[in-house]
Amino acid sequence: MKRTRAIELPAEEIEAQKGWMREFAALTDRPHTYCVVTYGCQMNAHDSETLEGMLAEMGMTPAKSRETADFVVFNTCCVRDNAQRRALGNVVWLKELKKSRPELMVAVCGCMMQQPGMGEQILRQYPFVDLAFGTHNLYRFAQLMLQAVKSRRRVVEVLQDDEGSIPEELPVRRSSPHHAYITIMYGCNNFCSYCIVPYVRGRERSRASARILEEARQLHAEGVKEIMLLGQNVNSYGLDTEGELSFAQLLAQLDQIGIERIRFMTSHPKDLSDELIEVMAASKHICHALHLPVQHGNNRILQSMNRRYTREKYLERVAAIRAKVPDVSLTTDLIVGYPGETEEEFEDTCSLVREVGYDSAFTFIYSPRVGTRAADMPDQILEEVSSRRIQKLIAIQKEITHARLASYVGQIHSVLVDEASKRDAGQMAGKNEYNITVNFPGTPDLIGQIVRVKITSAGESTLRGECVEN
Ligand code: SAH
Ligand code: SF4
Ligand code: F3S
Repeated sequence: MKRTRAIELPAEEIEAQKGWMREFAALTDRPHTYCVVTYGCQMNAHDSETLEGMLAEMGMTPAKSRETADFVVFNTCCVRDNAQRRALGNVVWLKELKKSRPELMVAVCGCMMQQPGMGEQILRQYPFVDLAFGTHNLYRFAQLMLQAVKSRRRVVEVLQDDEGSIPEELPVRRSSPHHAYITIMYGCNNFCSYCIVPYVRGRERSRASARILEEARQLHAEGVKEIMLLGQNVNSYGLDTEGELSFAQLLAQLDQIGIERIRFMTSHPKDLSDELIEVMAASKHICHALHLPVQHGNNRILQSMNRRYTREKYLERVAAIRAKVPDVSLTTDLIVGYPGETEEEFEDTCSLVREVGYDSAFTFIYSPRVGTRAADMPDQILEEVSSRRIQKLIAIQKEITHARLASYVGQIHSVLVDEASKRDAGQMAGKNEYNITVNFPGTPDLIGQIVRVKITSAGESTLRGECVEN
């Protein structure tokens, strides 16, 4: 059923939280420097920016290094087993540090914490963790910290709130003055059979378009050059709320604001509408770059994955966008070793990758996630088989990437300059409209500007060029 309005948390709740932040800042016996360690996707990266915003209000400043911080918070991911293991490995590393610095505080939050029983497990297995909380109660961070510091006891709070809520007006500390993330929707309703995200992030809920447009206007006024709209499935933006704009309509309105670049992710192929393609083609500021995860090239597997499109439908969408936006740069996510995947079925992924010609692809070995449908399926694929398959797929994509990058040589691209190259201070690095890194000789005063660069050569995953008259 559609909601009549977005389910924002009441303004009083956020005000109360800001009160806890001030109360925390007034404590003398509290941590003063922090380090936030982030795993996972852009959603998590943006959550960490909110954590940092709250930490600043709580009177804390970033530590020079993780080793010297008074407070370390791990914002975790659990989408694949290795993501979870990496996060936990680093938490354990802190155990030793805490022996020599008993006043060090440690918190664990994020998607991993939302898995059933994880709160208790953390308490049991990691006695040096002071605070653990989930994704649904991130906004309560200051209150929970205050509780932990004042009581000198360990605090665990994870809300099993599938419907979720939307916190507005929390402080944010953005990591760049030129780029900004804007979350447009939370959660996911798709339940792809391999994926844990819908279980740990709750149901789809769209922020009110008025809030999003206001945030974008504000960022434009602050001089932000590029915004990235975030959601697990941005194409279904607004569908959960009565009378809300569609994603294409939202994009069209954002395009009017005048921010130089608009990007978005992730698009689910099943909801990629003609309306969206039209808006992209007609817009001034929407980048011609589309991340369109296909996951697999075989129809039996796609159906088992519950992706709700066929290979043919996907290819039809690719053709539709290329017809209207011929220079569109396509990227994707691919899974190998899904339960029951035969050699022939895997070959269908390889042939699809060749057929589409992605600029780049993220390739993953299927990782069973407890509680998902695929985890209980028979015929789980042996690690050595998956490894061989992924190596082959990576090699195929590498060649395609090289050819795609080579085809850009001679073109003039606009590049948003990010930083001086780490290896050579005379070289600047930035992203072109297609989200590909471009290196070119330049000076640091260009950082934050959009410059025109003639592409002169292509590397494995980056381009090289020379600044032309702007
Ligand atoms: N909402 C996005 C993706 C979120 S997760 C989408 O639908 O495209 C990012 C990527 O991780 C997915 O696209 C998928 O390729 C991969 N992934 C998710 N669960 C996985 C699992 N259990 N094993 C391996 N890869 C997985
Ligand atoms: Fe996971 Fe599928 Fe939702 Fe993406 S759309 S987050 S892959 S369930
Ligand atoms: Fe990971 Fe959570 Fe993102 S599981 S991929 S951090 S939504």
